[in-house]
Amino acid sequence: MCGMALVQYYVASTIDGFIADSDDNIDWLLQFGFDSFQDDYDRFMADVGAIVMGSTTYEYIIGEGTDSWSYGATPVWVLTSRTLPTIPGADIRFYRGDIADLDQEALAAAQGKNVWVVGGGNVAAQFADRGLLDELLLTVMPIVLGSGKPLLPISKVTGVLELEATTPFPQGAIGLRYRLTPPA
Ligand SMILES: NC(=O)c1ccc[n+]([C@@H]2O[C@H](COP(=O)([O-])OP(=O)(O)OC[C@H]3O[C@@H](n4cnc5c(N)ncnc54)[C@H](OP(=O)(O)O)[C@@H]3O)[C@@H](O)[C@H]2O)c1
Repeated sequence: MCGMALVQYYVASTIDGFIADSDDNIDWLLQFGFDSFQDDYDRFMADVGAIVMGSTTYEYIIGEGTDSWSYGATPVWVLTSRTLPTIPGADIRFYRGDIADLDQEALAAAQGKNVWVVGGGNVAAQFADRGLLDELLLTVMPIVLGSGKPLLPISKVTGVLELEATTPFPQGAIGLRYRLTPPA
């Protein structure tokens, strides 16, 4: 791939900016199915060389059964202060501490490809607060939740983000690609 490797938060949210309900339920998202989004996801994943996620997200994924681990041998950092189970065959690295150190480690492991920050919002916000989040790839789902886990709970307001692309999906969803950091 060409150009600088990017740290990207690729995520689906409600219109009102939630990525899960207050009980970490995402049935509102799952009801749309995955078929309409598969191509977009595959294109995105083709350029991903490392993955970062919070422990709540990780525990949700392994709760679905480790057979469904879809990240192969791609290195995946799980942020946690606890001891959590690993998955046979997966490259899972537990990490606790400052995101700035992890950022360098993950970019190096990605070997020129991008780093996908899966979520949750709090993890993406730790990157954004340090100016380390390059892009927000948001799929806005046509649904309003009213409350829940926020998309990006940063500690201070961003500048005006640069819109790089929009993608209409079936069922009324829209993909928005925003740049947060100035292009190198
Ligand atoms: N809509 C979507 O596309 C989408 C995408 C991703 C996730 N989700 C959902 O959104 C929800 C995410 O919730 P969330 O934001 O509350 O959780 P999360 O980010 O997945 O996990 C947060 C946890 O990660 C650990 N952690 C975070 N930063 C850390 C650091 N720097 N060092 C050490 N540990 C750290 C802490 O847990 P411990 O230390 O206690 O382990 C923290 O409570 C889940 O329900 C998930 O399924 C939705």
